[in-house]
Amino acid sequence: MSTDAIVLLKEDHKEMRRLFKAFQDAEEGPASQRQKLVDQILEALTVHTYLENEVMYPEVRRLLPDLEDDILESYEEHHVADVLCAELAGMNADDERFNAKTTVLIENVTHHVEEEEEQEWFPKVRDALGRKQLQEIGEKMIALRADAPRTPTAPKAIKKALDAVTA
Ligand SMILES: [Fe+2]
Ligand SMILES: [Fe+2]
Repeated sequence: MSTDAIVLLKEDHKEMRRLFKAFQDAEEGPASQRQKLVDQILEALTVHTYLENEVMYPEVRRLLPDLEDDILESYEEHHVADVLCAELAGMNADDERFNAKTTVLIENVTHHVEEEEEQEWFPKVRDALGRKQLQEIGEKMIALRADAPRTPTAPKAIKKALDAVTA
């Protein structure tokens, strides 16, 4: 198994895309199925955001000051997604806004993931950091994963989400 930070984050993104597609396919389906998928989406996003905010973003910011603007924009995009996730966590699948809010969440995160992977900064990070450095960052993320909050309303998730935009 690779410990390369970018490989690990891309694996998370792939799983998110799978869950997003499953939700879109189930949009007209039973509430129980949509609820289950959104619960999975919220968990995947909470863990992933935590690892990026706690490890990847600060490490990249420290090692590659030129990418500061990309990192700051990413924190803000995470913050928008955090708000939507927290609201969705308090909703039921039969709420009239449930699908709309989930759709906006999916659109926002899809845009953000595209910026990370393609247009913006993962390629720059890959070029600038050596394999060993990326593996060290990946190992830190693997170590932290077990302790990551799993729901958007977990106290640790809320605190970190706020720290990320106010620090
Ligand atoms: Fe991100
Ligand atoms: Fe990401």
